Amino acid sequence: MPHTIVIFGASGDLTQRKLIPALYQLHRKKRLPADTRVVGFSRTEFSHDEWRKSLEESTKKFAGKNFDAESWTTFAPKVFYHPGDIGNLEDFKTLGTFLTEIEGDGKSSRVYYLSTAPRFYGPAAEMLGAAGLADESNGPRRVVIEKPFGTDGESARQLNDVVHTVFAERQVYRIDHYLGKETVQNLLVLRFANTIFEPVWNRNYIDHVQITVAEEVTIGSRAGYYESAGIVRDMFQNHILQLLMITAMEAPVRYAADPVRDEKVKVLQAVRPMTPEMLTADTFRGQYDGYLKEKDVADNSQTATFAAMKLWIDNWRWNGVPFFLRSGKAMSCRTTQIVIQFRQPPHMLFSTGGRECQADRLVIQVQPAEGIQLHFQTKVPDQGMRIRQTDLDFRYDRDFPGTMPEAYERLLLDALEGDASLFARADEVEAAWKICDPILQHWANENQPPVYKYEQGLWGPQQSTEWMEATGREWFDACPVLS
Ligand code: BG6
Repeated sequence: MPHTIVIFGASGDLTQRKLIPALYQLHRKKRLPADTRVVGFSRTEFSHDEWRKSLEESTKKFAGKNFDAESWTTFAPKVFYHPGDIGNLEDFKTLGTFLTEIEGDGKSSRVYYLSTAPRFYGPAAEMLGAAGLADESNGPRRVVIEKPFGTDGESARQLNDVVHTVFAERQVYRIDHYLGKETVQNLLVLRFANTIFEPVWNRNYIDHVQITVAEEVTIGSRAGYYESAGIVRDMFQNHILQLLMITAMEAPVRYAADPVRDEKVKVLQAVRPMTPEMLTADTFRGQYDGYLKEKDVADNSQTATFAAMKLWIDNWRWNGVPFFLRSGKAMSCRTTQIVIQFRQPPHMLFSTGGRECQADRLVIQVQPAEGIQLHFQTKVPDQGMRIRQTDLDFRYDRDFPGTMPEAYERLLLDALEGDASLFARADEVEAAWKICDPILQHWANENQPPVYKYEQGLWGPQQSTEWMEATGREWFDACPVLS
């Protein structure tokens, strides 16, 4: 059966930077199902060849050394362009005719990828319905929806309602590219394909968990979006809560879309709702120096470019274990890491040489130095029974050199093949907003917590370090060592 992926918003940045390079890599690696076509849809007028030509240039740039001219020549004829307007039903009807022309009369499998401005997600879904393009009598029809999915719980619910008038939930694939990252999927493997971690993965052995997504970049030219989004909508509601869910979930009964997502949603449902006192004490926000000077940023903008928060998961496994989440732009380095901080031994027999004994720690390096380190105590040779922390170090680039794919490759393939395990379900997205909405409302109405300024190139505001220290703990501020 032929497969077609139609990209709405085809002239946008994501198409050039991520989607086409990922589809091209799948083709180059011979993973794309045979008889797959890619069709771009947006208002700009292009002929098929003009679009192919411009994509060749951008793919060369973004695929770097993974571009080879020969495989591009076999990929390019699979790529087509159909100009059209999201607001025009006629354009969707002619798109339908065009798709049947290139697919033939038999059954076909289609993925509609909404990579438009977010305000068009609902209208695009409705137009697909009105033009009869969501009808499955001629094969599967799926819709992939980019982030952000809503700007709060209410708008996410409304968008779900609109999408569900046209597509059944099993046809809807809400994408979060963090789930396409190998190291995020490896967290499932680490937890559920090994026996040694499960017995200690709970409140009896773990003191707390830290999830950090730090970025060196500033917001650059993205103020138009970022000013109204801020760090909580941009990073926490989706990527960071996904990391939290996978770190904290119970084992699903099998690896399939619904059992996996059932367990993930339960984590969000167990997050303790925050009282106003908690919102002030347990959430933290900052803004990097120079943010107000960025293009299109309001002079008195209170938009947070850094946030940290302490969440509690009220269930049997995690009772009493705080989860510290933080993310920021303009930080010391780019690193996404999950730190599982174990408890101190109940009684210490050995000398640490005057230093405080550091308890064992498992560090999952999501990126960029993908891997896992276990930090544990070792006897220092020839110094009596003195001990020091050392580590066991697994690095993807040593054990699997040169094999790390882009997140979008996996996710696009899963969407084409109908596997929704790594996509967010409607209830998951709404549950995530339930955690973020009160924080956003509190920050909008109160001057608490204050917006702390921070110097670029550090780990966020100094007060964030003090905030953490006040809990008797320390942030694990370590930039990954790149080889
Ligand atoms: C995007 C955010 O979803 O994720 C960006 O909008 C952020 O602000 C990016 O920079 C981070 O993705 P990654 O894969 O580079 O960690």
